[in-house]
Amino acid sequence: MALRLGMSSLARQAVRMARRYSEVSTDLRYVVSCLTSERKRVPHWYMYDTRGSELFEEIARKSSTYTLWKHEYTLLQNHMTDIMSSMSTPALLVELGSGASSKTRPVIEAMIERQGALTYVPVDIAKDYIEQVSRELEREYSALKVEPFGGLFMDGLRHVADRPEPKLLLFLGNSIGNVPIDEHVPMMKEIRAYLSPQDRFVLGLDLNTDRDSVLKVYHTGDRRPWLDNIIERLNRDFDGNIDKMKFEPTTNFVQNPAEGDTPSYVERYLQNTTVQSVHLRKLGLDIDFPAGDKLYLSDGPNYSCKFSQHQARRLAEKSNFAVEGLWANEDAKFCLVCLAPK
Ligand SMILES: C[S@@+](CC[C@H](N)C(=O)[O-])C[C@H]1O[C@@H](n2cnc3c(N)ncnc32)[C@H](O)[C@@H]1O
Repeated sequence: MALRLGMSSLARQAVRMARRYSEVSTDLRYVVSCLTSERKRVPHWYMYDTRGSELFEEIARKSSTYTLWKHEYTLLQNHMTDIMSSMSTPALLVELGSGASSKTRPVIEAMIERQGALTYVPVDIAKDYIEQVSRELEREYSALKVEPFGGLFMDGLRHVADRPEPKLLLFLGNSIGNVPIDEHVPMMKEIRAYLSPQDRFVLGLDLNTDRDSVLKVYHTGDRRPWLDNIIERLNRDFDGNIDKMKFEPTTNFVQNPAEGDTPSYVERYLQNTTVQSVHLRKLGLDIDFPAGDKLYLSDGPNYSCKFSQHQARRLAEKSNFAVEGLWANEDAKFCLVCLAPK
């Protein structure tokens, strides 16, 4: 009898948990599967709710050690004429992982100057944030129409694939470097499949492989609020009690040969300092974090990849793009690559 009661209470608990799981979105269910896997992790896109996006932009603009923002902005200002030279008008501007669209401004301005009016489709997981950015952009540029797509990269690209206009597709801020390394080529091939010969694809890449300066970028204290926001978001989304103060950020740099095909990369995780048993009330789920346990901040091994120019060219070659232009800043730490579908 006691056994039968025990079984049915377990069964009732399983039904309750299943019901709670079914009430959360598919995206959040994926986050739970990451948290409960052997290699505990949060997917990279999860760091970008509205607060995470605002903090990211602030760090990118203010950081004295991470100068990608200003160099990429300058490269875009200097090379928009080169990029547009082989494109016909009027073209559609599409951007994957657009965030604050702050580096997109020189592109928007050059395209409006060339073709009079412009439609811009920013694609980003941070839906509320890009909708707010889109309204601001439309207020700023009277010749601009913005059609934000809140969702995953490839869903956004699929959404515009059938548009007849030539497309200028941007993927800036070394965002491809956050995609798991073994997905780079498949993702680029998929992007290629959605583009036509009349389109152009501009990738912004981080070329800095100097270990000391890379580690300095990720060790600065100004990134703490950004990391804290990940834990705060988990607590908000799942009504959890994770103690962010118990986590210490750790960064490693894995250097690969510049002449090989695999980029170097930063590995990043939050290490739990003292044992904590976490309860996610929304799911009725307990997760144990022993002391020393790691919570990785990426799906793949790489939090952020650092490329050589050779690797950038090989990535293009393997995914059936021709490199139409590759422009680096003066110390060759960042570059823009303009790709044409072969
Ligand atoms: C490194 S930030 C770059 C932001 C901006 N393009 C820049 O260069 O400053 C990456 C952006 O991609 C978005 N993002 C990350 N993973 C995504 C995914 N799988 N699908 C859609 N958006 C994603 C984030 O919300 C964020 O705005």
